[in-house]
Amino acid sequence: GRKFFVGGNWKMNGTKSEIDGIVAFLKNGPLDPNVEIVVGVPSIYLTYVKSILPANVNISGQNAYKVTKGAYTGEISPAMLLDNGIPWVILGHSERRNVFGETDELIADKVAHALETGVKVIACIGEKLEEREAGKTEEVVFRQTKAIADKIKSWDNVVVAYEPVWAIGTGKTATPQQAQEVHEKLRQWFSQNVNATVAENVRIIYGGSVTAENAKDLAKEKDIDGFLVGGASLKPDFVQIVNAKQ
Ligand code: 13P
Repeated sequence: GRKFFVGGNWKMNGTKSEIDGIVAFLKNGPLDPNVEIVVGVPSIYLTYVKSILPANVNISGQNAYKVTKGAYTGEISPAMLLDNGIPWVILGHSERRNVFGETDELIADKVAHALETGVKVIACIGEKLEEREAGKTEEVVFRQTKAIADKIKSWDNVVVAYEPVWAIGTGKTATPQQAQEVHEKLRQWFSQNVNATVAENVRIIYGGSVTAENAKDLAKEKDIDGFLVGGASLKPDFVQIVNAKQ
């Protein structure tokens, strides 16, 4: 079975004192021991957060470049994450794609390099509103997934996050049926284009306006293996989202 996975993507939020508050509610929990929990933290706070997180919560970077080191001002590498004991990185987030202009190809290079370095990846995909309205949802998410599939050897250390862009930070959550439909299509895509084992084992999590209120219904869908949570990951509601499967 696929272990339920809940990621909190803090994005560019948090002061040390706000972070202390988040860590306090994570420590308080209680957090379902059957759920893999990871928080995505701004680079500058990674080592601080790592030093105070409870053992049942893991930590992730929010971006990393496609090479180990060099003249790339402002970037960090997967090797630097690993050197600081950070086992995960979020790559391909829609904000990286749309605000910072990252292409499918750059993201695929980053995913491949992170995996080669030994950093696990939360790989984000998802269509924009106009793409959904034009009936292109599948075409877009398959294209984004294929770009990655073409460059990696194994999906063992990848969690796929389906995050429709129109649902991110908008309060317009995909319905459980809308999300399930895309997750199921993605699993079929894996079975046809990678192999049956990957299709069966890869975790496909949903992101986009997940709240304590809607998480339980989303979690009932058979191909929804968890969540990537933005805004609500900064609040105690995150604990309820982690426990949505209970
Ligand atoms: P929100 O939960 O704030 O909509 O953000 C989702 C997201 O982008 C997680 O990566």
